[in-house]
Amino acid sequence: MSNLTVVGGQWGDEGKGKIVDLLADRYGIVARWAGGPNAGHTVRFASKTFALHHIPTGILRDGVTAVIGNGTVIDPASLLQEIDELERQGIKVGGRLRVSHRAHVILPFHKSLDQWAEENTAGLTIGTTRRGIGPAYMSKAARLGVRMVELGDIETLQARIRAFVDVGFGGMLQQLNQPIFVPEMLAEEYFAHGVALAPYVCDTAVWLADQVRRGTRVLFEGAQGTMLDVDHGTYPFVTSSSAVAGGLAPGCGVGPHAAGSVIGVFKAYGTRVGAGPMPTEQINPSGERLRERGREYGTTTGRPRRCGWFDGVAARYAAAVSGFDAIAVTLLDVLDDFDEIPVCTGYRYRDIALSEMPAEPWILDEIEPVYEALPGWKKATGGARRLSDLPANARRYLDRLSELTGCDVVIVSVGPDREQTIWVSDRLWADNPKMPALTLEL
Ligand code: GDP
Ligand code: IMO
Ligand code: MG
Repeated sequence: MSNLTVVGGQWGDEGKGKIVDLLADRYGIVARWAGGPNAGHTVRFASKTFALHHIPTGILRDGVTAVIGNGTVIDPASLLQEIDELERQGIKVGGRLRVSHRAHVILPFHKSLDQWAEENTAGLTIGTTRRGIGPAYMSKAARLGVRMVELGDIETLQARIRAFVDVGFGGMLQQLNQPIFVPEMLAEEYFAHGVALAPYVCDTAVWLADQVRRGTRVLFEGAQGTMLDVDHGTYPFVTSSSAVAGGLAPGCGVGPHAAGSVIGVFKAYGTRVGAGPMPTEQINPSGERLRERGREYGTTTGRPRRCGWFDGVAARYAAAVSGFDAIAVTLLDVLDDFDEIPVCTGYRYRDIALSEMPAEPWILDEIEPVYEALPGWKKATGGARRLSDLPANARRYLDRLSELTGCDVVIVSVGPDREQTIWVSDRLWADNPKMPALTLEL
């Protein structure tokens, strides 16, 4: 099987964008299956920085077609802006982006509900990205959503928006003193977005199946991270979609075998944006040092990320529920000047030793990580291109992460640029030759 799936192993922002970008030139298609503009994938090359939100990172590689699958939620105006921004940066999007006609649309109602919930929910502020993600998935599950396909017919669109207001959420919006946009006017606005996006919108599932039949290889790009998955993450402090690898089957309309091999991406330490359990968080100078060295501020919201040590218990759990065949370790360079680097190898709850990730919120709130201190290497690693270029303690550190996750490390990233990469093993993509680069028609 020549397909590959890249998934976040922690709470998002693991550097999935960089890893996908490194590998994308071996695949004809790069597809996203979940999330929406809550994602922020940053890629750097040739002194340029790109921030992707809806569009798979693969769009940055010539010859790759980017697919936004049906399991995602789309904010049409912001997707149009993202397309414009990429075109402005010299990336041709026309003819290379396909958006599922079954993907759901984020409406202004969803954003105001998200905002309201964040500001008013007693005791449960998730710290969402306020992009309307949760409410959009809520109306999808309630069967009151609007899909991309409905943006193509003004009457259906009006009827769907009216159903959302009259049957579903209108009363709630009124009670919450939230603006109720006039359905007919909103329909006009979204119909116009639909017209602008029409060249990209199609049945991506049928198209993908046909491409796979013809032998085109697919790279599936995860968004968020396994610990933010709605089923397997630290519920309720999660996003509202399937961030685990298995989510790609319903989220792209392909069979589960389409995933191919699965790479989990892990930062060499830990971060989290928003609220919820993060057992290894360091609210102290070490945490601040990680934040400054790693420039840990959100790509989407600019919020400072919570920082802490590598959590081996959460990582092993993520490797199990997402089925990682191997891992990529990123941001190793951020640890370059620590004397000692603690790694969490277990948890304690009161007097009980726990070796697995608990689901009970009251236990998660109280657990104490058990640390093993590994010696630092006190040497810059940003210039390393082979494992043998790394100091012995850095190699030891990677070996420990590999033991804790039960997975081989296949890529190590030592800086944001493409070339700041150590290729350890190509066993998961060895049968995929690089695709010939097409010349962009600009
Ligand atoms: P994603 O959401 O998983 O794609 O990750 P983000 O793009 O939100 O956050 C990762 C950040 O780390 C980005 O700013 C990347 O440019 C940067 N980055 C990726 N790999 C490395 C690395 O090895 N070292 C350093 N210092 N930065 C990296
Ligand atoms: P990428 O793809 C980090 C977090 C939010 C919040 C929770 C729910 O860049 O890794 P939501 O807006 O989804 O309802 O927020 O999930 N979150 C992310 N954190 N990286 C992301 O995406 C995230 N997407 C959502 O901060 O805690
Ligand atoms: Mg991100």
